[in-house]
Parts: sequence; C-alpha cells; structure tokens
Amino acid sequence: MSKNINVGVIGGGLMGREVASAFGRWFVINDSKVNPSLYAVADLNKEALKWFNSVPTCKLLTENYQDLLECSEIDVVYVAVPHNMHEKIYIDVLNSGKDLLAEKPFGIDLGSAERIVKVIKSSGQFVRCSSEFPFFPGAQRVYKVAKSGEIGRILEVRSGFHHGSDLDSSKAANWKRQSKTCGEIGVMGDLGMHVCHVPFRLGFEPSSVYAQLQKGYPERPGGACDTWDNAMLHAWIDVDGAEPVPMRLEMKRMAPGETDTWFIEVLGTDGGARFSTKEPRTLWQFSRGIEQEWRRVDLGFDTPFKTITGGIFEPGFPDILMQMWAAFFAEREGHLNECFGCVTPSEALLSHRLFAAAVQSQQLNQVIEIT
Ligand SMILES: NC(=O)c1ccc[n+]([C@@H]2O[C@H](COP(=O)([O-])OP(=O)(O)OC[C@H]3O[C@@H](n4cnc5c(N)ncnc54)[C@H](O)[C@@H]3O)[C@@H](O)[C@H]2O)c1
Repeated sequence: MSKNINVGVIGGGLMGREVASAFGRWFVINDSKVNPSLYAVADLNKEALKWFNSVPTCKLLTENYQDLLECSEIDVVYVAVPHNMHEKIYIDVLNSGKDLLAEKPFGIDLGSAERIVKVIKSSGQFVRCSSEFPFFPGAQRVYKVAKSGEIGRILEVRSGFHHGSDLDSSKAANWKRQSKTCGEIGVMGDLGMHVCHVPFRLGFEPSSVYAQLQKGYPERPGGACDTWDNAMLHAWIDVDGAEPVPMRLEMKRMAPGETDTWFIEVLGTDGGARFSTKEPRTLWQFSRGIEQEWRRVDLGFDTPFKTITGGIFEPGFPDILMQMWAAFFAEREGHLNECFGCVTPSEALLSHRLFAAAVQSQQLNQVIEIT
C-alpha cells in the first residue's frame, strides 16, 4: 500500500498550478510507494487561490501562509514565490518542522542561500531544490554516458537553457525583470539551476569563471526593468585531476527562435552525448572507432520512474515535473537507490557561488576564481 503524503503549496502561481496538475494524475506512476495530495495552498492573491477550488483534495486556501504551516496534516511544503521572499518563507517552513521542496534559485543571492543552508543543517529537515529538466530520458542518458568513464578524456561540457520570452518588448515588467525581486543575478537566478544540476551532479565544479552578461529592454509596460537577460558563463572545471576542461553555461531569456529549450552536451576523445528538449525523445551519441559517428537513438518514454504511458511516446514538461517529484519523495522515504535525485542544498549553494562570481566577472571584465 502506498503512503499518503499531504503537500501544502505556498505561491499558487505558474508553478503552484503545475504541482496541482502533477499530483492530480499521480496514478500514472506504476507501483508508486507514495500517494501525494495537494492539501492546502497559500497565496496573497485571492484570484490565484480561486483557481484551486477545482482541486478536490485541497482542504485549505489561505492568504496567510502561517495558517498552512500550522496545519498538522501537512507533511511537505512546496514554495514557489518571487525570489525576494525565498529566504523568509523557506526558514519559516523549516522552523515549522515540515520538509521542503524549494524553488530555485534558493534565495535571492549568495548570502541568502548561505543563511537558508545554515538553518537546514540545524533543523535536520529533508530539503531539495526544484529542477525538472534532467528527468527527461535523454538527459538521464547523457548523465550516464558522461559518468561511464567510457568516453575517453573529457574535452568540453556545454549546458544551457534558452527562452525567447523577453524578445517581445510589449511583455509586461513583472517581478522576474526587476533586480529587487528577481535578484541581481537576473537570468542566472531564473534559469541557472536548471543548467547547473547535471554538471554539478557529475562533479563538474567550476574553479573559475568569465562571464558575458547582457541586459534586456530597460522599459516595459508597467515599469523599468534592470535584470541581466542573457548570461554566457565560460568556466574551467577539473575532471579527475586531468587537464582543466572548459564548461560553457548558457542562460538566455532573449534567444531568437527559442521558446523553452534546455540542452546538455558532454564530449570526450572517444565518445560523447547530446540531448535537447527540441527533440524530446532523441539522444545523440558520439563514438570514435575506425570512423567517427554521431548515432541518433529514439529513446521514447524511458523515464526513471515507470508509468502507464506507452514506451514509444514522447515525454513533455508535465511528465518530467512528476518524475522530479517522484525522485523527491523516493529520496525522502530513503529508497531513491540508483535513481537521479533533485538538487541538494549544497548544489544550490554552489550555483550561487558561481553566479556571484559571474556578476563580479562582468563588473571587472576579468576571470574570477571561485573559492
Ligand atoms: N522549476 C521551474 O521550471 C520553474 C518555472 C518557473 C518559475 N520557477 C520558480 O518558481 C518560483 C515562482 O515562480 P512563478 O513563475 O510560479 O511565479 P508567479 O509570479 O507565477 O507566482 C508566484 C506566486 O507567489 C505569490 N506570492 C508572492 N508572495 C507571497 C507570499 N508572501 N505568500 C504567499 N504567496 C505569495 C504570488 O501572489 C503569485 O501568485 C520562483 O522561484 C521561480 O524561479 C520555477
């Protein structure tokens, strides 16, 4: 029998609604050991709360998130609010004794992430950070190929996330385009965790970075915008004590021709692999024998947690979000086994160290060592 888990959501916007959808069709996961339900939602905005009236498991809708934290039926809290609210709300969740799936970037800046991690260490609560794209079957295979030790000397790593959302100057100035609410790291706070998750899990920790950051439109309907919109980070990583390896991390909200393209590529002297969400069921695998070859493999729906969905179909965003939650619950229950897990607090902290160094690199036009 699967274990019931009640989840409370703080921030019922874009991502809060996606979580309701993931739990609402949880039955698609075969033999799940947990059965999560959306039990409560807190949001300052009454209109946002109203949407959750259509979720039958939802027992509490409140404008005050403390009501949700005081509710003893809730086991896990998911927080998806603007970045300036992360630190206060994450720490309040931890002090309430509940486990937490926190949204990225895990605090508005490095100092904020450090304070959150300190409370996590003293609280002992189970905490992970959201990043769902590595749960695409193709991303999982790139991870396995890179980890296999069978691709020779690793020569380069490229990981990126390209959006075209900010190309349209008529889009409104919302909190994601203002440093005071999104953070001085801008697009790196918005897209960076997605880009760092797989490389960091492979142990590819940057020792230095040179950053090229670009701003978007300074004015949009509704106000001024001051965040970095595009970030190209050129980092050095150490792999197994061999020659340093270049790693390029690309985060863009102004990428012509892109809606939501996440990609990763790891290349070695003897092999390599590449995956992009532009081809959601396809893995490109490189091998070097007598001839060099790029092989295209149709993976289909080979997700880490098996589902009722036919193996020939292609996965999409709602599927991988469920997979990420399945990994969160499995790890929380102590049976993640060999499966890929969600971003850990120390990986989130490492991403903040990298992004803070990138901002400094941009200011000084210099390579910055990451300590
Ligand atoms: N994992 C992903 O793919 C992904 C995608 C988009 C956003 N995000 C992250 O999710 C978080 C939220 O982003 P979003 O796009 O859902 O934003 P959003 O603006 O759509 O929703 C945020 C919600 O939080 C509410 N809110 C603000 N302050 C609050 C408070 N004190 N108490 C309760 N509710 C409050 C707002 O009213 C709003 O409804 C951010 O950290 C963002 O980086 C993650």
